[in-house]
Amino acid sequence: MARIAVFASGNGSNFQVLAESFKVDKNNKIILLICNKKDAFVLKRAEKLNIPYEIVIYKKNDIIYGENKIIELIKKYDIDIIFLAGYMRVLSGDFLKKVKVPVINIHPALLPKYKGVDAIERAFNSEDKEIGITIHYVIEEVDSGEIILQKSIRLKRTKGLDFVEQEVHKLEHKYYPQVAKKLCKNINNKLKK
Ligand code: GRF
Repeated sequence: MARIAVFASGNGSNFQVLAESFKVDKNNKIILLICNKKDAFVLKRAEKLNIPYEIVIYKKNDIIYGENKIIELIKKYDIDIIFLAGYMRVLSGDFLKKVKVPVINIHPALLPKYKGVDAIERAFNSEDKEIGITIHYVIEEVDSGEIILQKSIRLKRTKGLDFVEQEVHKLEHKYYPQVAKKLCKNINNKLKK
């Protein structure tokens, strides 16, 4: 069984779809949500879904303190894979070396375009004809790791930003659980060997 941790900081709609899809999966389990904000809405979702969470506040913005706490938790809960879902902290190279499990992120843009924040809005305000999502491995350089999956749709600019945002989130909610399942299957195959 792949033991999963999800990291999220905000609304948590991607956490929700991952949680719902793994609830009915006998082979894999979301063991833990890690959140760095004590009033994040994602915590309410976790409570409803009965998924344990740990809040790790980076004291005085001390990255090393926060990341060491997280490493302890990943070890304690024996986590095999991490999915970032709107986690608003950059993970350091040191953390990625120490954590020793794959870390995956979802980004609401067709990388390498629009790395970083406000990606949907920046794509909306561009001349691009397409918009989409990228699911990728996390490396030290933000939004730059190996791409696992990209999906694009036509950018219907005339319908307005809210509409386009919703369309992008729909793509995320459809494909993140699918990719997560595939990656967990690979982990299970390795564990069996
Ligand atoms: C998503 O758009 C995701 O791609 C990005 O952060 C957003 C999180 O949304 N990394 P939510 O909290 O899952 O609703």
